[in-house]
Amino acid sequence: MNDFGRLFRVTLYGESHGPAVGVILDGVPPGLSLAEDDFSADLARRRGGPAGTTARSEPDHPRIRSGLYHGHSTGTPLAIEFENTDTRPGDYAQFERYPRPGHADLASRARYRGWADPRGSGHFSGRLTVGVVAAGVVAKKLLPGVSFRTLVLEAGGRADVAAAMQEAQAAGDSVGSLVEIHVDGLSSGLGEPYWDGLESRLAAALFAVPGVRGVEFGDGFRVAAMRGSEHNDPILDAEGRTERNGAGGINGGVGNGNQVVVRVAFKPPSSIALPQDTVDMDTGQRARVSAAGRHDACLGPRGAVVLEAACAIVLADLALAARCHAAPESTP
Ligand SMILES: Cc1cc2nc3c(=O)[nH]c(=O)nc-3n(C[C@H](O)[C@H](O)[C@H](O)COP(=O)(O)O)c2cc1C
Repeated sequence: MNDFGRLFRVTLYGESHGPAVGVILDGVPPGLSLAEDDFSADLARRRGGPAGTTARSEPDHPRIRSGLYHGHSTGTPLAIEFENTDTRPGDYAQFERYPRPGHADLASRARYRGWADPRGSGHFSGRLTVGVVAAGVVAKKLLPGVSFRTLVLEAGGRADVAAAMQEAQAAGDSVGSLVEIHVDGLSSGLGEPYWDGLESRLAAALFAVPGVRGVEFGDGFRVAAMRGSEHNDPILDAEGRTERNGAGGINGGVGNGNQVVVRVAFKPPSSIALPQDTVDMDTGQRARVSAAGRHDACLGPRGAVVLEAACAIVLADLALAARCHAAPESTP
């Protein structure tokens, strides 16, 4: 199944080199103003082109096929589609026989019993994330007063992200990256019990983004080396504002009203020009494979807005759930 969310439901569809990719959003309340132009800014952040990113050039023009009338959502499923125009499926033909180490070629073959569309990684391609970004744009509209700030902190451990990715690409290689997302303006109390806590849902959505290898909140993995007196966030007022933010804005899976801080580690993308060891699926013999096509050498710069969108999707879903929290005229 490819379906995420409870009240704001997101279904992605398509393959990298099929006719189109897209997203279907169910649960968008009626009357939300929406135009194709609303998507431009976030889609531009995801587009390839700069040195170190893929040379595939897609117009990424959103076609709204359902759920929009006179510039407003109708409340029925909102379907947003992006045509695939710059396809070169021949570039990927060899990966059926010689699966790329690190990519989904072999695992998807097992999952779909040999029937998966392998062209350009099919449904596992970064191309699918254009639909995530589109969903994020709609989700953000459901979060008035909430703002996002997303930064690529480093690539290959270096602050000079552009240089790191260009050098990796020039060497026929790729490089990992670290992205930090700050969310401000969330009212405290967002998050459902246990499985649907804010951290759990954010982590689930972020780990679904292809290439993500780590997610941490606030002090993150550093907590293992800390004392309680260092990690606890001193409370400043009855609103719950804190002096520091080691919790990353979340306690007990519930937003505490402070800034939500999430860091995400992207792996170095698997498709690299350098030859690597693999197996020949026809003969079962060891072989070498090189992925010299059009690829991103680093995922942070294009992936940052995808991560931000994944967070917005979760927050919109939980914000819709929060509307049902209070019984009529309830006073504790
Ligand atoms: C925006 C974006 C672009 C991507 N571009 C590439 C790429 O050009 N080459 C590549 O090998 N992987 C790319 N990926 C990552 C692969 O899709 C991903 O590694 C693959 O599906 C296997 O999934 P996994 O890394 O999560 O195990 C991209 C991911 C994102 C989010």
